[in-house]
Amino acid sequence: MDKTYIIANWKMNPALLKQTEHLFEAVSSQVKNSGNTKTIVAPPFVWLSLIAHRFSERKIGLAGQDCFWEDKGAFTGAVSPVMLKELGASFVIIGHSERRKYFCESDETINKKVKAALKHRLKPILCLGEEARDAFDSQGRPINEMSLAVGEQLKKGLADVPSNRLEEIIIVYEPVWAISTHSDGKACLPDDAMKAALFIRKTLSSLYSRSLAEKAAIVYGGSVNSKNVASFLKEAGMNGVLVGSASLSASEFVKIIKIASEDCHSRTVLK
Ligand code: PGA
Repeated sequence: MDKTYIIANWKMNPALLKQTEHLFEAVSSQVKNSGNTKTIVAPPFVWLSLIAHRFSERKIGLAGQDCFWEDKGAFTGAVSPVMLKELGASFVIIGHSERRKYFCESDETINKKVKAALKHRLKPILCLGEEARDAFDSQGRPINEMSLAVGEQLKKGLADVPSNRLEEIIIVYEPVWAISTHSDGKACLPDDAMKAALFIRKTLSSLYSRSLAEKAAIVYGGSVNSKNVASFLKEAGMNGVLVGSASLSASEFVKIIKIASEDCHSRTVLK
């Protein structure tokens, strides 16, 4: 059976060391080794190092929230995939919309990061998503924001990534307008997430092959909580969720993991 990924993106939280230890301890003590569900936490870099050392016996995978594309050198403030790997991270989030917005990341730099992560056997968690909901042009014709943005980000983000590495990449469909800080906690509809996943599979099928597209792991992000997680896994057939604000409450995040572990999903299928 396919894996279900439950990924916590802590962003620039918690602010204090004690809170970080507390949060990680509270979550990791509840995570069981469940064959098909993989829990991953992406703390800020400084806390990642601490967690990796203090909690060496853990069932939770660790992810960086970003990485640079060079291994080392004169790149002030940057963290390389080699360093993340050295700390025990197995994953790295790349191209989150906040990185694209506040750190001016382009599809080209994101592509370099994806390739650098793969080079060092870190699994990229590649984020894609449109800024705004669908709109209408001046003639009143609908503009499909999702396919325009996601198609472009996917093609450019995966440029020169060989087909034999595709299965190492987790693709996140995360519409920017549905992220809790923009949407007051309103997620996108499961049906729309399913359409986006299908669109991503079709694009992957044209870039690679149908069988690779069918196997790809596509997860949903944007205002996920314990009340809506089942709808994204079951109704929308997503291969997991990326959780921001709800992952900062240990009890809420543990609930999400439990629901996901009990759930069996079916993938969105290409027609
Ligand atoms: P959210 O954040 O769950 O708070 O919407 C998700 C994200 O930005 O990764």
